[in-house]
Amino acid sequence: MSREHWEKNAANWAEWARKPGFDSYWQYSKTFFELVPPPGQRTLEVGCGEGRVSRDLAARGHHMFGVDSSRTLIQLAHDTDASIPYVRCDAADLPFRDESFDLAVFYNSLMDFDDMQASIAEAGRVLRPGGFLCASITHPLQDAGKFASRSGDAPFVIEGSYLGDRRVYDAEVERDGHHMHFKGWAYPLETYARALEMAGFMLQALREPALESAPPSMDPGAERWRRIPVFLMWRAIKT
Ligand SMILES: C[S@@+](CC[C@H](N)C(=O)[O-])C[C@H]1O[C@@H](n2cnc3c(N)ncnc32)[C@H](O)[C@@H]1O
Repeated sequence: MSREHWEKNAANWAEWARKPGFDSYWQYSKTFFELVPPPGQRTLEVGCGEGRVSRDLAARGHHMFGVDSSRTLIQLAHDTDASIPYVRCDAADLPFRDESFDLAVFYNSLMDFDDMQASIAEAGRVLRPGGFLCASITHPLQDAGKFASRSGDAPFVIEGSYLGDRRVYDAEVERDGHHMHFKGWAYPLETYARALEMAGFMLQALREPALESAPPSMDPGAERWRRIPVFLMWRAIKT
């Protein structure tokens, strides 16, 4: 479901992701990079899209490999920086040897995979013991509800259920004439924690960054995102 959706929306995503200062990446990635350990021998980005995170990690000294299921996005990533090896594959079936990476990075991609648990287990397989898994996801609280209005003091309302089985996450966002259709899965936090536990990971650090400053492209009520976190980020170690 989600793989096909991302391939269909690849061009839109690349335009959205690449416009400087536009996507939330420019506000939130700083917190994520603070969680990332220093470069080891090999770092893998799973769900790399058009490659911005892999390029930023390479600039920080990481020897990067990137994988994604979208043919279009893998091609764009390669065309932008051919020095990083990019492979098209499913996150739940990585074409790498056991224990061949020091770090696996999932930046806003885990909730988009159709088999989140298998993808975490695959990262567990390709990481050496003592290796790290760093992830950013859309916050499970944010995925479970929405603000009643766009004003800064709007109540945040969960109409259905936070707990329970995964639900489809489907949101169309319009900003400054750009349109993006996000589609993936919403899980309670415990479902992620259990997937990490089952794959032999221990959580080392967790962050819920608040919006620091609203970019000009955001609406005036962006203040509301100082009260409810948009993203959840963590570093886990493979035991
Ligand atoms: C929101 S984008 C994030 C891309 C990149 N990490 C970034 O922040 O720029 C999610 C990515 O997950 C990829 N994806 C979705 N399902 C996948 C799967 N089953 N295996 C590998 N990649 C997948 C999509 O093609 C898309 O590039």
